Amino acid sequence: MTANRAKISASLLSADFGYLAESIKSAERAGVDEFHFDVMDGHFVPNLTFGPPVLEAVNRYATKPIDVHVMQRSPERLIPVYASSGGDIITIHIEGIADVDETIDVILEAGAQPAVAIRPRTPVSSLRSVADRVRRVLIMTVEPGFGGQEFLPDTLPKITEALSMMLSARPENDCEIAVDGGIKSQTIGSTLEAGATTFISGSGIFSHPDGIDAGVRVLRDRLKSVRG
Ligand code: DX5
Ligand code: ZN
Repeated sequence: MTANRAKISASLLSADFGYLAESIKSAERAGVDEFHFDVMDGHFVPNLTFGPPVLEAVNRYATKPIDVHVMQRSPERLIPVYASSGGDIITIHIEGIADVDETIDVILEAGAQPAVAIRPRTPVSSLRSVADRVRRVLIMTVEPGFGGQEFLPDTLPKITEALSMMLSARPENDCEIAVDGGIKSQTIGSTLEAGATTFISGSGIFSHPDGIDAGVRVLRDRLKSVRG
């Protein structure tokens, strides 16, 4: 896994929604590779966020790809709407889906790239049956639901396990291991060493005391220093 494939994804949950367009532009100027859009339904997770109309607004200003992280019970019916509202990648939780294969088909038919996520206590083995159908898996490094939580170090071995599972399922070596939750300058290095390739950060970027640009720069610098 070559380290120069590392991607930084800005989680908009921590953005200032009163200045969404400006926040998106600042994050792009700071060099983020992607945006992360957390849909929460108040049932699958104990929080409620935003949906298609806000995604459309993000899509009007973002030129980088948008990953829709779907934390919702039975999201099948809305998946085509997420795709048509600007979602390039649609990340579904294995715990919230009745038929994962069918849902991946729905994502592909909608013209988006499917990805699968697991909560901290869900084993990596639950993803095995779909490992050859997705490029990206997302390992939650906090309990999903809120930004600004502490990174859970117990999740590090799962990153390594997910990488090895994906490398054996996809011999073409195109896989991405995303980490989401508590990713900051103090924690990003250990996830890179464990095998992560895509680093999703919300408060680390949008709530950095020195601004969005500094938030992205410290993450990038830390990745460089760990890679050597
Ligand atoms: C949490 C969300 C995350 C969240 C990460 O359920 O999935 O994407 O925005 O926020 P930070 O980086 O602040 O932990
Ligand atoms: Zn997320």
